[in-house]
Amino acid sequence: MADLTTDFIGIKSPNPFWLASAPPTDKEYNVRRAFEAGWGGVVWKTLGAEGPPIVNVSGPRYGAIWGADRRLLGLNNIELITDRPLQTNLDEIKRVKQDYPDHAVVVSLMVPVEEDAWKDILERVSETGADGVELNFGCPHGMAERGMGSAVGQVPEYVGLITSWVKKHSDLPCIVKLTPNITDITKPAQAAKENGADAVSMINTITSITSVNLDEMCPEPMIDGLGTHGGYCGPAVKPIAMNMVAQVARKPETAGIPISGIGGVTTWRDAAEFMALGAGNVQVCTAAMTYGFRIVKEMCSGLSQWMDEKGYTSTADFIGKATPKVTNWEHLNLDYVTKAEIDQDLCISCGRCYAACEDTSHQAIAMSDDRVFTVKDDECVACNLCVNVCPIDGCITMRTLKPGEVDERTGMTIPAVDDKRTWLEHPNNPDGDPLTCISRGQ
Ligand SMILES: Cc1cc2nc3c(=O)[nH]c(=O)nc-3n(C[C@H](O)[C@H](O)[C@H](O)COP(=O)(O)O)c2cc1C
Ligand code: SF4
Ligand code: SF4
Repeated sequence: MADLTTDFIGIKSPNPFWLASAPPTDKEYNVRRAFEAGWGGVVWKTLGAEGPPIVNVSGPRYGAIWGADRRLLGLNNIELITDRPLQTNLDEIKRVKQDYPDHAVVVSLMVPVEEDAWKDILERVSETGADGVELNFGCPHGMAERGMGSAVGQVPEYVGLITSWVKKHSDLPCIVKLTPNITDITKPAQAAKENGADAVSMINTITSITSVNLDEMCPEPMIDGLGTHGGYCGPAVKPIAMNMVAQVARKPETAGIPISGIGGVTTWRDAAEFMALGAGNVQVCTAAMTYGFRIVKEMCSGLSQWMDEKGYTSTADFIGKATPKVTNWEHLNLDYVTKAEIDQDLCISCGRCYAACEDTSHQAIAMSDDRVFTVKDDECVACNLCVNVCPIDGCITMRTLKPGEVDERTGMTIPAVDDKRTWLEHPNNPDGDPLTCISRGQ
């Protein structure tokens, strides 16, 4: 059976599934139950500096987006960092770590941009026996307005400066948690790497308004007639998070820094995808908040079974395996041609593919009087839209044309594999100059 144990920057855990810093890791009671349920590690809910406790709103703090079946797709929150006393958290962390020495216990931190504030809290955390710290440069609401969280994560110089303070005042492994609310996430990642961070984690939540109450004319969640932006997470953010993981994993300036992947991980497959793109482990919040701690059992068994099927004996065997396959558009094979094919035995004649292709794609699906739908190869541009709107899994597939076959739409004969052309070789590229490409250098 595949070995799920993970060594992430020297922090060992029985599996790569950690709970992200959030309500699931807010207190000893939760974390003990999470470990008993099978989670490999936790990043404790973010601690702030000593002082008057943080005050949260006492009205609703969540907004949500649902699919048609009411499955939660995206969650928005306006919660702040922990509102429990610092010493209470530290005492609990110490007890938990003592009782679970083989599980990962990382402590998330967010204090003002002052060297002494970081020095003080690091000294106190090191007394707990925790395995490492995660610097929360990500929360986009409440704390950002106080000059912390994403206000730091959006300024690479601050990210670098605080990372250097943390490395100066602590021997604990340091993970820098990045905000997605930035144009280029590789910039703060690079600042973290250059200043000694042991790893980066991404993503924290995305600035968002999930809904507007049209009776009250107010964004939700509503707090006494007013609303504010929150942080978005859950399955809806996974594509954004995975792209950011891939960007950091493949850019020469940031490649090699260990990455903890966060954002919408709900199943073992989500985790495997993040890890294939370069994440050394994953962190989970919304899925645990939606389905409870026990989902980790399915995550572990699913990942282990898939690894067995693929012949992977440890997670290291597939971490980053998909990274080299992420490229820029100009490197894609423009002589690669596919055509949609409809399996008439599976088709339920709903007509969705026809409507989509006829109205918004290339008028490449024919509908007969008795509602039989067929693809016109001489019109199909292989956009894949019909596959995505068809309600029957596997009913429409894309067939790849082989070298020597003729594309009925363009009349082009598919060239031999070695003769394929990308945009860089394509005759329509003005003088074939790579410099005419919009994006270069990766
Ligand atoms: C209610 C709530 C509170 C959160 N609090 C924190 C926090 O204190 N510190 C932090 O670094 N991230 C916090 N997060 C962000 C999560 O750790 C995680 O980065 C984000 O939810 C994306 O993961 P997910 O899609 O699995 O939820 C919070 C998320 C939620 C939903
Ligand atoms: S792949 Fe695109 S162009 Fe071809 S049939 Fe489907 S929707 Fe139409
Ligand atoms: S969308 Fe799928 S099921 Fe519906 S008509 Fe097209 S091929 Fe058939």
